[in-house]
Amino acid sequence: MAINKALLVKSGKNRIEWASTRMPVLNLIKNQFSEDKPLNGVKIGGCLHLTTETAVLALTLKAAGADVCMCASNPLSTQDDVVAYLNTQGLKAIGFKGESSNDYYKAISQVVAFKPKIIMDDGGDLTNAVMDEKFGAIGGTEETTTGILRLKALEKAGKLGYPVIGVNDADTKHLFDNRYGTGQSTIDGILRATNLLIAGKTFVVGGYGWVGRGIALRARGMGANVIVTEIDPVKALEAHMDGFSVKSMDEAAKVGDIFVTATGDVDIITGKHINKMKDLAVMANSGHFNVEINVEELEHLATKKREIREQLEEYTMRDGRRILLISQGRLVNLSSAEGHPSEVMDMSFANQALSAVYILNHYKGLENKVYNVPKEIDERVAKLKLESLGIKIDSLSDKQKRYLSSYEIGT
Ligand code: NAD
Ligand code: ADE
Repeated sequence: MAINKALLVKSGKNRIEWASTRMPVLNLIKNQFSEDKPLNGVKIGGCLHLTTETAVLALTLKAAGADVCMCASNPLSTQDDVVAYLNTQGLKAIGFKGESSNDYYKAISQVVAFKPKIIMDDGGDLTNAVMDEKFGAIGGTEETTTGILRLKALEKAGKLGYPVIGVNDADTKHLFDNRYGTGQSTIDGILRATNLLIAGKTFVVGGYGWVGRGIALRARGMGANVIVTEIDPVKALEAHMDGFSVKSMDEAAKVGDIFVTATGDVDIITGKHINKMKDLAVMANSGHFNVEINVEELEHLATKKREIREQLEEYTMRDGRRILLISQGRLVNLSSAEGHPSEVMDMSFANQALSAVYILNHYKGLENKVYNVPKEIDERVAKLKLESLGIKIDSLSDKQKRYLSSYEIGT
């Protein structure tokens, strides 16, 4: 047992070091934080996917002087070696892959019991848990689209207890993480679970937001015929003019080989769709919660279920068709693969680290609302990322600045 633990710690250390080599922006911030200690003595409570990239963020916050306690933001996304290593580094990480709902909320309550001053959330579950606790949280940050929707609903209901920075809405977050990160890691998750050939398959993507378009792009890149479903007429038109086939889910259900939901909404695939699917159709979800595929209806329709591969369940319908579900309908990229590559999390988590310091320095002047990441932070992250990639760009000359701010100059 002790040897296994040591091996786990070593694996976590090695993999976190590897991730760190691909996170130059966060490392620059970490070096600065190590000198300035901008979060000295501040308790930070996190509910994030406990991956190697999150570990690099947690170690950055620690280098800034923070006292960090983190739990998982999904029962299936925890990397056990990461948790093992972090717990040797003077941080508290709570969680394991395959938590029950009870384990999941117990871990959240342990973070609440830590009485954090700053809440770093991914999806809003920790925020909800601290909402009625009066231990003096001063502010928070939120990582994902669904979390921001929930926070805005709390704000509207007058129940948001502190200001929150919506990290997801920074350009250097959603344009890269949601699109390219989820695009690649969703395909990675589907391949690890099924080892299917993507080329030539009919691949249905539910939702053409930032995540959906990333998935559609990557599936097409691997030779799939991609169908998009939408409820927003503008997004549907964009998908059409980006060259994708656009259909209702009722229609798509009849022809799809692989289905991925990415809407942040409920009931994208329900029993009525499953009833129309072909034998051996595969379903997965990349949206934050496991509500996009109605698993309850799937269970109800099935006569039999078995785990046919790791993270892949085969349901047999009454008419003999077999329908496959990856990772119980939980986010496929984090439960069946390792989440986004470090290169992209570099920017997301640079925004997180800088936003935590911003909250600490500005919370007294902020209202209990959801705020955007300040433009200076977003631009700083973009500049540092470009620098790390060795990419130089032009800058405006005085003449160009005058031209762009004038109305007199025409033909
Ligand atoms: P978004 O708001 O940009 O896009 C969501 C899209 O879904 C919109 O275009 C919307 O019109 C569409 N939609 C809503 N209801 C629909 C329905 N019934 N049928 C079809 N389309 C519908 O959001 P996003 O940034 O793309 O995020 C989507 C989800 O993915 C959220 O839950 C978010 O939290 C999550 N997310 C997951 C990861 C991950 O690592 N798996 C990463 C980032 C975001
Ligand atoms: N969300 C998506 N990918 C992630 C990752 N690699 N680490 C933490 N959160 C994530």
